Amino acid sequence: MTADTIAINQLMDKFDGHHSVWLFGYGSLIYKADFPYLQRRPASIGGWTRRFWQGSHDHRGTPEAPGRVVTLIAEADAICHGMAYLITPEVFAHLDHREKNGYLRLATSMTFEDGDQTEGLVYIATADNTAFLGAASEQEIAAHIARSTGPSGPNSDYLNHLASALRELGRHDQHVFDIERHLAALRSE
Ligand code: SIN
Repeated sequence: MTADTIAINQLMDKFDGHHSVWLFGYGSLIYKADFPYLQRRPASIGGWTRRFWQGSHDHRGTPEAPGRVVTLIAEADAICHGMAYLITPEVFAHLDHREKNGYLRLATSMTFEDGDQTEGLVYIATADNTAFLGAASEQEIAAHIARSTGPSGPNSDYLNHLASALRELGRHDQHVFDIERHLAALRSE
């Protein structure tokens, strides 16, 4: 599959005719809402776990030296906490561009903190996209992040902003916090 997913995402018609759609964000979409939204609510989705397994050619790295950003990996019983935004359909043009390096819109159900559930969309970069990097140890991922930078800034800012945003939400993510710890250790060497 091509790494540029804009054309594929424009074919997603599940919510056509809806005046607003819930979008679940679990990475930079938690802490960087550079788009208009009608409502913003902490939420979670089941069956997925957050991993720094996706390459970033356009934000936190380059095609020659990709950075590492998060995607979701299917895992039974896992729960991924993040932030949901209620947006109008026009906003997807901006989001499809922002998430074009391998992420596909997928329909999902999501659960708000009060237990209410709704249907919506999430951007996921699956293992068959050409920018996918796959598994590595948290220590290796930290070293990769430490040396990566791209048009949106240092890869370490992405990791640190995500870790802070998860703490603000009161959510523990062992993978993210382990990488943060290894990155801090590298910095103090
Ligand atoms: C997301 O935040 O939901 C997708 C991945 C990213 O943009 O970091």
